[in-house]
Amino acid sequence: MQLGTLAAGTGIAVPDDTLMIGGLTSDSRAAGPGFLFFALGGVQAHGARFAAKAVEQGAAAVLTDAEGAALIEAGGGVPAPVIVAANPRLALAKMAARFHGRQPETMVAVTGTSGKTSVAYFVRQIFQRCGHNAASLGTLGTVTASGTSYGGLTTPDPVSLHAELAKLADAGVTHAAMEASSHGLDQYRLDGVELVAAGFTNLGRDHMDYHATEEEYLQAKLRLFRELLPSGGTVVVDPAQNKADRVLAVAEERRQQVLTVGERGRDLHLRNVQFSGFSQVLTIDTPRGEYKVSLPLAGHFQVSNALVAAGLAIAAGEAPGAVMRALETLEGAPGRLELVGRKDNGALCFVDYAHKPDAVDNALAALRPFTTGRLIVVVGAGGDRDAGKRPLMGEAASRRADVVIVTDDNPRTEDPALIRKAVMAGAPGALEIGDRAEAIATAVSMLESGDVLCVAGKGHETGQIVGKTVLPFSDHDAVRTALAQGARS
Ligand SMILES: Nc1ncnc2c1ncn2[C@@H]1O[C@H](COP(=O)(O)OP(=O)(O)OP(=O)(O)O)[C@@H](O)[C@H]1O
Ligand SMILES: [Mg+2]
Repeated sequence: MQLGTLAAGTGIAVPDDTLMIGGLTSDSRAAGPGFLFFALGGVQAHGARFAAKAVEQGAAAVLTDAEGAALIEAGGGVPAPVIVAANPRLALAKMAARFHGRQPETMVAVTGTSGKTSVAYFVRQIFQRCGHNAASLGTLGTVTASGTSYGGLTTPDPVSLHAELAKLADAGVTHAAMEASSHGLDQYRLDGVELVAAGFTNLGRDHMDYHATEEEYLQAKLRLFRELLPSGGTVVVDPAQNKADRVLAVAEERRQQVLTVGERGRDLHLRNVQFSGFSQVLTIDTPRGEYKVSLPLAGHFQVSNALVAAGLAIAAGEAPGAVMRALETLEGAPGRLELVGRKDNGALCFVDYAHKPDAVDNALAALRPFTTGRLIVVVGAGGDRDAGKRPLMGEAASRRADVVIVTDDNPRTEDPALIRKAVMAGAPGALEIGDRAEAIATAVSMLESGDVLCVAGKGHETGQIVGKTVLPFSDHDAVRTALAQGARS
């Protein structure tokens, strides 16, 4: 594609409109002949330091910011044009969208501290039940009717993202739902995705190692509504959730349409919830009348997630009746309050991805109604990440559960004992068992009739990160092994 075509409408001055660009990358190692190399200012070294290497490998031009251009100049320059942009990350996202040129026709995105994966997973299912070829993209990778391809990052870099969207469009996917993480939004990874609707789940404590303040964290999430969703788009929120008012204020400012859901919602107004086994029977008032929906998922937060997902599908043009019917067959995302097994005495074992204080709180609150005995939780916090959340996770666990076992969860390069100590500080009286398999086995052995176990933290993940090594570990397998051993002994 010609450089002029790539840059059209971005406001970036390019030296030669006709220069042919064969690929885009911000990774100098991936730069090949004819590539446009994006030298981004990073958390670590400025990408400009690798410009010479990229050009040596054949890059046709370099795009960077003023600081990068000065660095290249100071290093003796490169034998290729250097294009300066005020915001190279934004330029990369916009140009990646143009370069790949195709994405599923109808796309929605969801942001929030918790529930993004679940909502995207639900929206995909609703689209599919409504007869569309649909996909979801996020923490679980790309999920389509034909299976899952694992991506690994909640929001991938723009080049991979747009390559993936083009691949999906080529495969006939017309509808897609994607997770928009605050990192992804902050780093302009999703700009260039054309959205018809955007949803917000909630705001809790997370990523405080990356964002300096809660306000900054919220502002990153608000970019989805302020800058990515066009004016004609629809914003979907549950007004009962923390900071939903701030999202609604942006929607008003931007003259976007608003679709509200939940107890305080207008469009999908949740009037009543009744428990029926693991299902929840919802009475929902809509402008088209009342619907009674049996949602086959446990947990109050799943009701909010399901309604945000339903709102997004309706905002994308689906008929409310069909969407309500689709809710009746929703499957939970893997590792989100997933019932993994039962002990011989009937005690239930759940695996949940809760690795944030709010999520621990919500997951345990969701399991309480199914507990006639004790609620037991196995919980830990990750290393090299937000240390402030550790005691808060312990605190949430001890407030909601009857028995707390503190264990390791991806200690990475930190001393696991110190991480456990920080979690224990919020959970006095908790049991401390560093080895995760042993912690799970102990919890399972403690289970009596009527008890419920929640193994929190890993969800769908299949590794324990110790140092820089990922050791194979699955909470599902650990629970099943412990149940099998218990049955034998
Ligand atoms: N609406 C919600 N409110 C509070 N907690 C929730 C909500 N939805 C999910 N959770 C909790 O958060 C955990 C993670 O859910 P999910 O993976 O859907 O969120 P996410 O936003 O995608 O998280 P991540 O930022 O890690 O990708 C769940 O296992 C559950 O414990
Ligand atoms: Mg996610």
